[in-house]
Order: sequence, then C-alpha cells, then structure tokens
Amino acid sequence: MNFFMPARLYTGEHCFEKHGDLLRILGKRCTIVTGKHAAKESGALDDITAALASCKILSSVFDGIRKNPTVSSCIEAGTAAREHGADFLIGIGGGSALDATKAAAVFAANPGLEEDGFYRREWESPPLPIVLVGTTAGTGSEVTKVSVLTDSKGRKHSIHDDRLYAYASFGDSRYTMNLPLSVTLTTGIDVLAHCTESYFSKKADQLSRVFAVHGIRLLYEPLSAAAEGKPLSPQQREQLYEASIFGGLAINTTGTCFPHNVGYYLTENYGIPHGFASAAFLPDLLKLVVKDDRDYADSFFREIGFGEDAILSLTGKCLPKNSIAMTEAEILTALPRWENNGSVQNTRSAVTTEMIRKILIQKYQKT
Ligand SMILES: [Fe+2]
Repeated sequence: MNFFMPARLYTGEHCFEKHGDLLRILGKRCTIVTGKHAAKESGALDDITAALASCKILSSVFDGIRKNPTVSSCIEAGTAAREHGADFLIGIGGGSALDATKAAAVFAANPGLEEDGFYRREWESPPLPIVLVGTTAGTGSEVTKVSVLTDSKGRKHSIHDDRLYAYASFGDSRYTMNLPLSVTLTTGIDVLAHCTESYFSKKADQLSRVFAVHGIRLLYEPLSAAAEGKPLSPQQREQLYEASIFGGLAINTTGTCFPHNVGYYLTENYGIPHGFASAAFLPDLLKLVVKDDRDYADSFFREIGFGEDAILSLTGKCLPKNSIAMTEAEILTALPRWENNGSVQNTRSAVTTEMIRKILIQKYQKT
C-alpha cells in the first residue's frame, strides 16, 4: 500500500467554528481566496470571517477566482496575500477556489515566480500554509495534493506536490444546501468519476479501493435522488459531502484515468462543467474494463453493491443532453495531447489514441 495524506480534516455542521482556533498557530493575518459568489451566498464567508475575528486573526479577501481558474489569477491572489502580509491562506469554494488557493500559496511565498517556474516546481520557498473550506460536494481537493489550473494557452493541467496539502480542511455540508441542481449534479457525478477511475487505475491498492467503494456507496442514493429532481435533506447533503471526501482520498493515491483527461478537452473547448465532462467517458471506461478484465470489474460491482446498468443509468440521468459537435479534423488535431499522457496511461486497461479517436467520433462527430 501507499498512503500519505497529512491534512487535518473536519466535517460536520459548524466544524470551522468548532475547530478554527487551531489556526492561531499559523499566525495573525490571513487572506481568504475565493470567487465572487459561492462563499458569500453559502454563508461560509460570514461564518469564517467571524470565527477568525474571534481568534484575533486579521483577514483580507481576494475574490477574483473564476471557474477553471487560470494561473494568472493565482499569481494575483498570491500578490494580494503578500501585500496583506498574510501568514496563511484560506480557500473557500468548490474545486476551482480550493485548487487556486493551493497555487496562490506558492505564489505568495515566491515573489517573481512565473507560470513556467510554477509548473516546473522551481519554488525557492515552500507555500504559505493552506486552509480549505469546501462549498460543494465534489472536488475532494480538501484531501489531495493536487491543483488543476488553466495555463496561459487555455490548457488544463494538474500539478501534484506534497507541499500542496492543506494544513487543515473543513467540510460543512450546510454550505452545499442551496446549490443549484446543475452544480449538485456536476459535482456529484465528479465524485462517481473519481471513485470509478481510482478503482480502475493501475495504482489502485487495497486502501484506495476501500475509499473508492465507500465513496460510491455513500453517493449513490443522494445523487440518484438529486438526478430525479428531488430536494435533498441535510442528511443527504452530508452524505454527498462525505462521499466527495472518500473520492478525494481515493484519487490522492491513484490519480485519475482517461475520462478526466479527455474531459479536460470538453471543458476547455466547449465549456462543459468539469464533472459532466469527466463522467461523459465513464461508460467508455466501464465498457473497456468489463471487456478486458471481467473478474476485476465484477469485484467492483459486487463491492459497490450495484451492477453496471445502475451506474450507467445514474450517469445518464445526471449528464445533460449532448450539445457538442466535432469535425473529424478537430478530433485528429486534438489526439496528440493524449499520446504518452500520464492519466491516460494510468488506466488499468491499455488506452490508445486510436481508441480515444473512436470514442470521440462515436460520441461527438458531426453527421
Ligand atoms: Fe474531478
């Protein structure tokens, strides 16, 4: 086995108010990194600033992080933190804000560092301490060393580094109670993708499989209810949040496979939300692994307690109607990005660019 995840993790209602005083050790000033809406509308920003004030920690807010955050926005956040004299950073939001906070902590500690140096991990100083507060149930970034950002050429890349683990993460599902249905579905189906891809990763081991299986078992009922348009109870929201943490723990060991990486292409070029983009390729992953290693696939279905049909049905209910139409030339132009790609090669079954070409043609080619 192979397990390392040093972040303190607290979940449950009011977990920041209950445990936030442990941040005193990090210093007296912090910068909150977030987007324009989620932190405010969920109530998280008010709760956290009040809790910080009661700990006599002076906070500033940088709210310039958008969906699929760019490296340049992380440089801006890092600069704002340095100007505030921040001792540590707190990210509030979904995956975009949390991943951006990890990078901003690097830039805050390394004035003059640019995009290339960031990706090459030429960081002279370690990042400032990172604290994460989730407002969606999906990313799992709270418990990973991963940050996924969009570079100056518009390409999404993930960076993995042990220095990007949070000092502490807080998952209070109250902040997810009023999420729009589309956000609940795309973040929820992202969890299904994390758990499934992790299970069928070459790096899967006994422990990562336990996380992946438990994540799906927690996820299935509340996500199915959401997909049918039913309002979710606080308990179901809590269950979705816990599922997202298990998904994060699973991919923190194994990484993701080809669905996530091919999904980046849909997000970059067609604006498809991350979870929907990744899950679009889950049926293809399942088809492949069932064909290649029936016994291993059967053990997956037995452990999660649902068959392939149930997973495909849930995926189908969550995904929006396809709006993508690609030309064959476009597909051929995109293919080289998946040659020797780490996530593609991380898939338990062999995946070639020819296979990806066929999948894209079958799903998206204009007729
Ligand atoms: Fe994801």
